[in-house]
Order: sequence, then structure tokens, then C-alpha cells
Amino acid sequence: MYRSKTCGELSIRDINQEVTLAGWVQTVRKFGAITFVDLRDRYGITQLLFGENLNTLLDEQPLGREFVLQIKGLVQERSNKNPNLSTGDIEIQVTAFTILNKSAVPPFTIQDDTDGGDDLRMKYRYLDLRRNAVKRNIELRYAVNRSARNYLHEHQFMDIETPFLIKSTPEGARDFVVPSRMNPGQFYALPQSPQTFKQLLMVSGYDRYYQIVKCFRDEDLRADRQPEFTQIDCEMSFVEQEDILHMFEGLVKRIFKDVRNIDYTETITRMTWEDAMWQYGNDKPDIRFGMQIANLKSAFRKGGALLAQGELINGAGFGVFDNAETVLAIAAPGCSEYTRKQTDELTEWVKRPQIGMQGLVYIKCNTDGSFKSSVDKFYAEDKLKAIAEAAGAKAGDLVLILAGREERTRKATSELRLEMGRRLGLRREDEFKLLWVLDFPLFEYAEEENRWVARHHPFTSPKPDHIEVMINNNPVIENADLYLEHPYAHIKANAYDMVLNGNEIGGGSIRIYQRELQEKMFAALGMSPEEALHKFGFLLGAFEYGAPPHGGIAFGFDRLCAILGGSESIRDFIAFPKNNSGRDVMLDAPSSIDDKQFTELQIKLDLQ
Ligand code: AMO
Repeated sequence: MYRSKTCGELSIRDINQEVTLAGWVQTVRKFGAITFVDLRDRYGITQLLFGENLNTLLDEQPLGREFVLQIKGLVQERSNKNPNLSTGDIEIQVTAFTILNKSAVPPFTIQDDTDGGDDLRMKYRYLDLRRNAVKRNIELRYAVNRSARNYLHEHQFMDIETPFLIKSTPEGARDFVVPSRMNPGQFYALPQSPQTFKQLLMVSGYDRYYQIVKCFRDEDLRADRQPEFTQIDCEMSFVEQEDILHMFEGLVKRIFKDVRNIDYTETITRMTWEDAMWQYGNDKPDIRFGMQIANLKSAFRKGGALLAQGELINGAGFGVFDNAETVLAIAAPGCSEYTRKQTDELTEWVKRPQIGMQGLVYIKCNTDGSFKSSVDKFYAEDKLKAIAEAAGAKAGDLVLILAGREERTRKATSELRLEMGRRLGLRREDEFKLLWVLDFPLFEYAEEENRWVARHHPFTSPKPDHIEVMINNNPVIENADLYLEHPYAHIKANAYDMVLNGNEIGGGSIRIYQRELQEKMFAALGMSPEEALHKFGFLLGAFEYGAPPHGGIAFGFDRLCAILGGSESIRDFIAFPKNNSGRDVMLDAPSSIDDKQFTELQIKLDLQ
């Protein structure tokens, strides 16, 4: 028997018990004739006391950090208790010990606050995973996994595996491809998600499916993206959007309760995509705080109509506003007393390449009722007051205004809002605000290809009363500059995203389930009937054999874990993640392969 107890379970109740423990040496402290050792395992740390009688043995077999040690001993009360440790009331008087394995000196100490830097942590991830801070994240991940499985099982969902070696049909992200030795010159693709398989399972009658499953996307990486990531992937038959929203609100609330003991009893806010874009400049708004965006002038069309033409700001001779496609403002609460240095710094902030604006206009709404701005030359005080009011500012606020091209300005204002929210402490890690964003556009205009692409994916159904518009209009875009005039630009989808604290944690849709409509969809995306058959013939075929109405959703499992764990970076919640260049620095992958493998695959490398 290697151990009778773990290093995390002994307490004052166990005094005088004989125990055997096994674990890793965290620290060795010698005080004269006695030696203290902290022994660590997954469950905790227990203090060991080696008395004088073991000194000679310890000299012969010295202990070092991270050695694997087994001890026998007696539990005794500690004179110097440690209230921060669950085992802090006791220690083990060691009677015998065995070094089970030695350890080289680790490249960083295995402690919460000494992680040795990112590169080193990733190279020695197996050591990094021993650290409490990382272990807690992995434990949280497992808790989310268990909670989700319990909930879904209780609601008749079945976990069904789907293949990883599938057919390449890139749409959205790039595929990772795998050469087939048995079919020379042909390639599998790794799935970007099990989308079509879960729909086929609906056709097969497995009306509630789920899978906690790896997805693979060859896309540019960010803190919240990995090339291989995990989804809680779900699909249901005989459902409308409302059924899905209801079922999966239940799932997320259950996870909150099980994992963080949070009773999320409030109704989850719902917002249309247009309102999200209009009010927050973003399709995943952080609604922990207000500071909504005011449109002083906008090219963004709400409900297909152009609003806010710029009466308030145009014609004062201020070219930046007069000539801008879009002028957007936010009111930062209580910031009217910002110094010149602070407004200059904010201006530099919006000029950074990541934000990409030319400058920042501000209006200080002083508490004495006066207004002071960076554009006093052009706007009299009553005009400034009117603009400030339009931005929803109160006395004491600072109005921040950005102007420029529609998309960039909207993005920049959204970033500025988030930054101000962060600076003002309005984005608290321990506050969780869920949001459904609904009624996404069905299509998005792809400028480079001058065609429509599916905003969610090509299997998403249009809103029932928008189907006619799709069927009766030619998808071809005659004039790229006027793509917003095309009827397709305003077709809404039966699609929804779940947003948590400004992060998209899940997305899904009600699907198309009729062959004709699916064919129409492929055609709308610029696919010829032959291409559609070549890529998705299996699905079109399946739709001919009694496909039920169905819909589903997939949650970004890593993201959900990270946010519940109070972090925006998903890497710390994945046991073996990739770095920002998509490399596994521990394995040193990707790497070249043997000539023999190329020969077997009948592939010749010809790098450009
Ligand atoms: P979607 O592409 O929106 O939908 O993905 C669902 C959720 O997965 C997470 N996610 C990611 N997480 C980490 N790294 C990535 N590279 C990454 N990409 C996406 C996000 C996202 O909300 N088949 C559809 C779902 C459906 O329609 O049912 C799909 O994959 O949190």
C-alpha cells in the first residue's frame, strides 16, 4: 500500500493515528536537529516532522524539492498551528521514509506566485499543472463538465460521439487537413464543429444529443481562442427558438449553481443584434454597466433605416464631424474633472494601432452646469450641452466622441466603452451578467469575394417571414458600394448567442430542415448546385427522408470555464494548451515528419 491517507485530509480528529502518506516534497526546512518537510499531493499539504533519530538517514538520503516521498508516521497536534491550511492543526511525526523517486531541480518553484514566465510554464506544463493556481482551474473545468453532463442527462440528452476525420468544407474558419495514406492525394479535415453530424442524428431520431467535444479551427489566435477547443455541443428536435433558450438558460444557471454556488434567479436579458450594435457597438455587449453609445451620426441601419443624420453636429465647420461617416459618443460617469494629461492619454489610447482612430473629442460636463470641450472653437456652449444630453451625460460626466468610417468607429467606441468600464471599476470579476443576443442577420457581406456568407453557418434558417425575401431575390450584388441596399442585408436569422460579461460563450440556431430551402441557401452563398451536392450531398439527401424541425446550440466550454474562474484567457483552463502561434512548446509541435511518412503518403513537399 503506497498510502493510507492523502495529504489533504488529516485533522485534529486523527491524532495518534498511524498513517502512510505519499506525495511530492514542497519544502525542506532544517532547524537544528529536526527537519520539517511540506509534503504535497493533489489534495493538499501536510507538514512532516523528522526527529533527531532520522538525521543520519536523512544525511545519507537527502531530500530535495519535488522528490516523490513515502512516509509512515503518527499524527500529532502541532504546537505552531497554521490556520491557512486545512491540515494546519496537525503534523506527522515520521517514523520511516522511502524516496520513491528523485527529481531534478525544477526550472521554477511549484508555488502560486512563482510561475517562471509563460514560455517556461508551457514548456514544463506538467510541472506548471502541479501549481495550486492551475490545479484549481483544471478542477473548475471538471466541475463544469460534470454539472453540464448531469443537467443534460436529466433532460434526456444522449452523449453520442461523432467522427474527427471528416470532409473538408471550409466556410468561416480554415480547416486543419489530414492526408490519407490509403487514399493517396486525398485528405480528411478535422471538424470545426460536429454541426452536420448532430443534424443527421436528429434525422435519425435521437432527438436530444449532446457532446463535450473537441473542435478544430485554423484561425488567428487570441486570448479567448485556441486552434483546438472544446464545445458543449447540443441539438434538439421538435423545438422552436423559445424552447432552446429556455433549456439552455437552465443549463447555464445550473452550472453557475453547481460550480460557483450562484443562484442566478433573474431573468436573462434579451437584446436584438441591432440594439446590441446600436447601443454597445458590439454583438456581445458587456451589460454589467451602462455607458451606452449615442449615435450622433450613423451609417448603421437599424431595421433597414438610416437613423441619426447628424443634425446636431454637422455644419459647425468642424470637418472631422462634417466629413465623417459615423460619429459616436459615450458618457463616462464622474470623469468631468479629468486633467489635460488624462484626456491626452485617452487620446493616445484611441490612436494605438489596435484601436486605429485619428483622435478623440471630449466634452466636460462640469458640476457647475458649464461645458468645456476640445472643440470649443466650433461649438457654442448650448450646442455642447445639446450634444452632451444626446450622449446621455449628466453633470460631472465626460463625453467622449469618436468619428470616422462606420465599422472602425463603432468598434473603437465599443473598445473605449469597455476600457472606461474597466478603468472605472464597473467590470467586476465577481459579477455575472448573462445576455441573449437574438435576431442576427442571416448573411454577411464578404468584400473580398463580393458575395454573401452565412453569418452563423449555412444551416441556419431565416426568420419565417424573411424566407420569401430570400427566395424571391437574386443574391448577386451588382454594386458592392451599395450592398446595404440589397434585400439580403436585412434578412434576419433564427439565430442566438449567449453572452456572459461581454464574451460570446455560446451560439446556435434553428436549422433549415427542408432540402429546397437548404439548396436555396447554398445558392445564396454563391455555390453552384454541383458544388452544393459535392460538399453537402449527404445532408441534402438526408433531408429527403423525414428530417424533423430541429435546432441547437454550442457553448465554448473553455471560455465558460475561464470566465467562471475569473479570467479572460482560456489557456489556463486547458491542461495542455497551444501558444499564440498555435504551437505546443512542450511537444515542439507542429514539426516536420520523416521522409518515410511522406513516401507512404505519396506527398512531395514543395515549400514556397
Ligand atoms: P460557433 O462557431 O459560434 O458555433 O461556436 C460555438 C462557441 O464556441 C466557442 N468558440 C471558441 N472557443 C475557443 N476557441 C475558438 N477558436 C472558438 N471558436 C468558437 C465560442 C462560441 O460561442 N456549430 C455551431 C453551433 C450551433 O449552431 O449549434 C458552432 O460551432 O464560445
